[in-house]
Amino acid sequence: MTALRVGIAGLGTVGGGVVKLLAEHADLHAARAGRGLRLAAASALEMPRALAPLLKNAVWHGDALDLAASPEVDVVVELIGGEEGIARKVVEKALQSGKSVVTANKALIAHHGNELAKAAEDNGASLLFEAAVAGGVPILKAMREGLAANRFVRVYGILNGTCNYILTEMEQTGRDFDEVLAEAQARGYAEANPSTDVDGFDAAHKLAILTAVAFGCPVNFSAVFVEGIRAVSALDIEFARELGYRIKLLGITGRGKAGIEQRVHPCMVWADTPIAQVSGVLNAVVAEGDFVGQTVFEGAGAGERPTASAVVGDLIDLARGRAAPPFAVPVSELVALPAQSMADRTGAYYVRLIVRDQPGVLADAAEVFAAAGVSIESVLQRGRDPKATVPLILTTHATTEAAMRRVRTALAGLAAVVEEPMLIRIESL
Ligand SMILES: NC(=O)c1ccc[n+]([C@@H]2O[C@H](COP(=O)([O-])OP(=O)(O)OC[C@H]3O[C@@H](n4cnc5c(N)ncnc54)[C@H](OP(=O)(O)O)[C@@H]3O)[C@@H](O)[C@H]2O)c1
Repeated sequence: MTALRVGIAGLGTVGGGVVKLLAEHADLHAARAGRGLRLAAASALEMPRALAPLLKNAVWHGDALDLAASPEVDVVVELIGGEEGIARKVVEKALQSGKSVVTANKALIAHHGNELAKAAEDNGASLLFEAAVAGGVPILKAMREGLAANRFVRVYGILNGTCNYILTEMEQTGRDFDEVLAEAQARGYAEANPSTDVDGFDAAHKLAILTAVAFGCPVNFSAVFVEGIRAVSALDIEFARELGYRIKLLGITGRGKAGIEQRVHPCMVWADTPIAQVSGVLNAVVAEGDFVGQTVFEGAGAGERPTASAVVGDLIDLARGRAAPPFAVPVSELVALPAQSMADRTGAYYVRLIVRDQPGVLADAAEVFAAAGVSIESVLQRGRDPKATVPLILTTHATTEAAMRRVRTALAGLAAVVEEPMLIRIESL
């Protein structure tokens, strides 16, 4: 059988890894796919010197759009990045030319996945993006294939390695967010502009994709509630530990009473749950199916080699001629489902107040909770200093987000409360 001819647009971290992996394991890939995977063409702004020997038999395109339509390529691998611009154009052009596409671009799929999946289907091509969610962890393939017999109940995970690294460092060293972020930037674990990661958007892109695959609905990124980790303090981490929890930035999607809920925010999870044990830059996804129960997938969520592993896994599927539909069902079978509002989230909450240490503060706070119909489960107060401020920690029994928003507003208005109250949702996973 003739080799699958691969064209790669973008030769940075992931693209470079894919070029190396195709060369290093060519025989293994050919044996597994039943045919070779041949690097036929490549494009980037400049050819990276280190890759030149591996690219000598590939056609070089200065313009990635030429590669996208080029006759010497069967599959286009888009590894440029960005939800718009050249990456989107390359993918659209490749699909319109009847070529299958493999991409690691979560922003592109979260924003334009529906149209791209339709374009793929209309043109008899495939669209695969395993590397877009949890990097090297093959969670999409597991959900589309190995777990395909199940109705998914809930899927959640640690979807951003940068945030997990920062939270882990904060927990292990007792340092605050800003200091750990600066160090993560210096060590290359966080971008110079860290917003996409620490404000939760990267995890939200991945969650929107997971939701579509899990529930057979179109991708609906705008329905994801997103809150990042900037407001989590060393104090919160310390109190979480005292209460038996760890703080993780989770993406959670599931069937709620009012529809599909999609949310990304810091969560307190019991320290002995599998998800709480995942530390550093690792990612993990827990997929709960109605027959299989809980399945846990953990591994490297980013980096040259793990991400290349996922991209080439997709290429092997294409070479075998066995690619599943992008969102597990044909586009015509995708069913838009109502989105559950964040205000309907039900569960327990952790509340951190910084208060003037004066008599009556606790009674005032308790009154606020009572007025909103929220029942307090525990109260913690450390230190006594009438001249200074002290943290006052309360946890609640299960209530709604809507009630807790009222509580937060009322607490912020108390004379003794000197900082915006911090709420962290407690998840029973
Ligand atoms: N890095 C990871 O660990 C990781 C993990 C999962 C998913 N992803 C996703 O994978 C994609 C690539 O990420 P990356 O980290 O490999 O990015 P990167 O290192 O910045 O590489 C991007 C590449 O695209 C090239 N490029 C930029 N504009 C181009 C254009 N107009 N035409 C052709 N090539 C162009 C760049 O060329 P120059 O170098 O010459 O500018 C570079 O080779 C992104 O969608 C990202 O979200 C990355």
